[in-house]
Amino acid sequence: MKATAVAHPNIALVKYWGKLDSGRNVPAVGSISITLDTLATRTTVTFDEGLAEDEFTLDGRSQPNRIDRVSRCLDLFRELRQETGFARVVSDNNFPTAAGLASSASGFSALVVAADGALRTGLDRATLAQLARRCSGSAARSVFGGFVELELERATKNTTIRPIMGAEDWPLSAVVAVTSVAAKEVGSTAGMELTERTSPFYAAWVAGSENDLTVARQAILGRDFEVVADISEHSCLKMHAVALAARPGLVYWNGTTVECMRVVRRLRRAGTAVFFTVDAGPQVKAICLPADAAEVASALEQVPGVVDVLTCGLGAGARLVADDS
Ligand code: PMV
Repeated sequence: MKATAVAHPNIALVKYWGKLDSGRNVPAVGSISITLDTLATRTTVTFDEGLAEDEFTLDGRSQPNRIDRVSRCLDLFRELRQETGFARVVSDNNFPTAAGLASSASGFSALVVAADGALRTGLDRATLAQLARRCSGSAARSVFGGFVELELERATKNTTIRPIMGAEDWPLSAVVAVTSVAAKEVGSTAGMELTERTSPFYAAWVAGSENDLTVARQAILGRDFEVVADISEHSCLKMHAVALAARPGLVYWNGTTVECMRVVRRLRRAGTAVFFTVDAGPQVKAICLPADAAEVASALEQVPGVVDVLTCGLGAGARLVADDS
């Protein structure tokens, strides 16, 4: 009753922020992302009848503060397979956890794929993505590789998660400028809840999302980098604007974050095809064509305060691997 899965973080180009139904973790808006390679979570799930409760180890350390969320995710499998007992979950990230590098996306997508493998449930990818979405909204997208869309049907609160077909052979690079490795002060679920409750811009944020998704989807299918760049920066800055206007305002950036954004804009003005996006943390992700990745990485490395620069391509969806590989 054991299986191991590997999954990668994804970066949303059109972002999700807010919940339509927090009980079922239905996002308030759809989203479009790219799944990365290089950064990875590797998770082994072992269902063991000898355990009196679930156990969770991340990067070699037991995680009492995170076990509840992991257990709630495993509960989804226990609902499907009544006789299922407790599990030992051992997970390792090759990048900083909870600092805005989408570790919850790779973490929960690896967890559902490993749990499915361990229990031999044999669920299809769309169903695994739905289970991952219940655990972390963005994790649903990491079940698939490349360009991925989470579509929301607002009236029924149904979501559909699928790769954007036809975009598989557009190789983009993501150059990640790490500006801090500290865990963020306000997690995304708490940040979204505060934003919904207190930000005067929340309704406008939700209302604008459908149009952003349509523009981005068409531009991705047409390989129109400039349009993808414009709509992605717009979605990112709008997400931060609505969060900044919460009370108390959510500031996920530091000074280096802003300086990296300026550097990316300067490169773009000078003719390099590159744009930035920033999630609920201080890291800056510069998206560019692979031919320009070295130039973008070198510009970001020179920004004072940048701790590390990681270059990724587009990666595959969450998958089972041999336990000892
Ligand atoms: O998956 P969550 O619930 O941690 O939320 C992630 C939200 C953002 O990363 C900021 C945006 C997104 O769409 O990934």
